[in-house]
Amino acid sequence: MWSFARLQKTTVLIPALLLAACGTDRASAEEIDRLAEALAIEAGMKVADVGAGDGDWSIALAERVGDSGHVFATEVDQDEIRKIEDKVALSRLSNITVVLGDQRDTGLPDGCCDAILLRLVYHHFVDPPAVLASIHAALRPRGLLAVIDITPQEHWRRLRGVPERGGHGIPPDDLIEEISRTGFELVARYDDWNHDAERFCVVFRRTSRSDP
Ligand SMILES: C[S@@+](CC[C@H](N)C(=O)[O-])C[C@H]1O[C@@H](n2cnc3c(N)ncnc32)[C@H](O)[C@@H]1O
Repeated sequence: MWSFARLQKTTVLIPALLLAACGTDRASAEEIDRLAEALAIEAGMKVADVGAGDGDWSIALAERVGDSGHVFATEVDQDEIRKIEDKVALSRLSNITVVLGDQRDTGLPDGCCDAILLRLVYHHFVDPPAVLASIHAALRPRGLLAVIDITPQEHWRRLRGVPERGGHGIPPDDLIEEISRTGFELVARYDDWNHDAERFCVVFRRTSRSDP
């Protein structure tokens, strides 16, 4: 028998489980404003959204950079690529290029971007140093990289092949340590990102790489 308490629990649980399953959510206007400020996004800039999912953020960024700017939306999942292409067609924006990458290479052209966004994707990388090398090559000197991510979620599905970090996600200090080793310097860290104590956004600037 369904009780009110059980119904209430289900109403809360189902959206939470759906969110945990895909690990993503919709772009809110406030979060986009904060990100645009953190990445100093302006009309005319060239920006990449690596691991773009279904493309909501790529579209929001394309609206910000305008006709004189450009957005590269990259994905490794062919189904997501199709979703992005459909959304881009519906949006009638002509300043987005959809790029199929792989687990080690973003597929972005060298020096293509003034800024790059990684939203809820860094913890999916099976070979973070390789993807970071590709991101480094794609960013212009002193370009900015914003990484929005989430602390390890013990009960979310485990991702196969990724480094073990205590759950689905990554602690912010680990993320900063890993990225700072590969030719990026820390610019800013925002905890409690989007009013969520488990999310954070870290901004880096591209420096020269000090490969061994
Ligand atoms: C949790 S979703 C985030 C999607 C989107 N960035 C957002 O915030 O809504 C993670 C996405 O990253 C993609 N992904 C995983 N590894 C990747 C890689 N090495 N390069 C590019 N995308 C990747 C997945 O296919 C998935 O669509």
